[in-house]
Amino acid sequence: MRYAYVNGRFHRHSEAAIHIEDRGFQFADAVYEVWSVRNGQLLDADGHFQRLQRSLGELRIPSPRTRAALEQIIAELLRRNRVRNGLVYLQVSRGQARRDHAFPRAATTPTIVLTCKRLDFAAADARAEAGIAVITVPDQRWARCDIKTVNLLPNVLAKQAAQEAGATEAWLVDADGHVTEGSSTNAWIVTKAGKLVTRPADNHILHGITRARIFQCSQLLDLEIEERPFTPAEACDAREAFLTSATSFVTPVVSIDHHTIANGRPGSLATALRQAYLDQS
Ligand code: PDD
Repeated sequence: MRYAYVNGRFHRHSEAAIHIEDRGFQFADAVYEVWSVRNGQLLDADGHFQRLQRSLGELRIPSPRTRAALEQIIAELLRRNRVRNGLVYLQVSRGQARRDHAFPRAATTPTIVLTCKRLDFAAADARAEAGIAVITVPDQRWARCDIKTVNLLPNVLAKQAAQEAGATEAWLVDADGHVTEGSSTNAWIVTKAGKLVTRPADNHILHGITRARIFQCSQLLDLEIEERPFTPAEACDAREAFLTSATSFVTPVVSIDHHTIANGRPGSLATALRQAYLDQS
């Protein structure tokens, strides 16, 4: 049996529900977080809890639980679902209120939903060993992509376009012709001189927790990082390309828009960073 946590109680997953006038459902007025779970432990727990607080703060949604309470709920959720390797999903919306765009006047209790599921990390390892294909599509999102909201329609359309093109991820390209990030991952390249390049953590990308960890891993490996925008053309000509996220860790990219990167094999630095990330987790 699968269980989900909704507003203070565990429910059978198949019966868990929120109200039709929940503002998450009506307006995407909600934030979320995703943690990877390896051997029963949350990866990068601090970073994801801190980003959750920031996202809630930016949208002025009151924090519905303390971190300690959330940790207890997550532990119980993982126990009930017998998940030791997978992910935890948390969503907090502004709550339920009569449909009206502005915030509800009366104090509204935020809606909180937690689910978890098993992931096959062996399959993810195999994907990383082969390397993945990405395509590029225009970035059609709003100007506050640093807030982790559930307003993900452009990301959904981009990922679908990638799948239909036989690729795993879509890299989003802004009006200036620069890659912002992937539909659910941060984007990186390695220059011919061996420098890592990734876009600065501005309002146009999600400040990935895995991205931040790669900064630490790169120090261990004595690698230099340049935070600057790059174009798809520069990426196609790069020595390596890769992406990062909580559930994919570091995954080498071997083609962009059907153009093969370097020799078409995962790059050595991306592979070393993946290993360093997993070793440190
Ligand atoms: N996605 N960029 C976007 C747009 C994302 O949605 C994500 C995460 C990332 C990587 O962030 P992190 O390293 O903190 O996971 C970058 C999650 C996993 C998701 O939507 O499922």
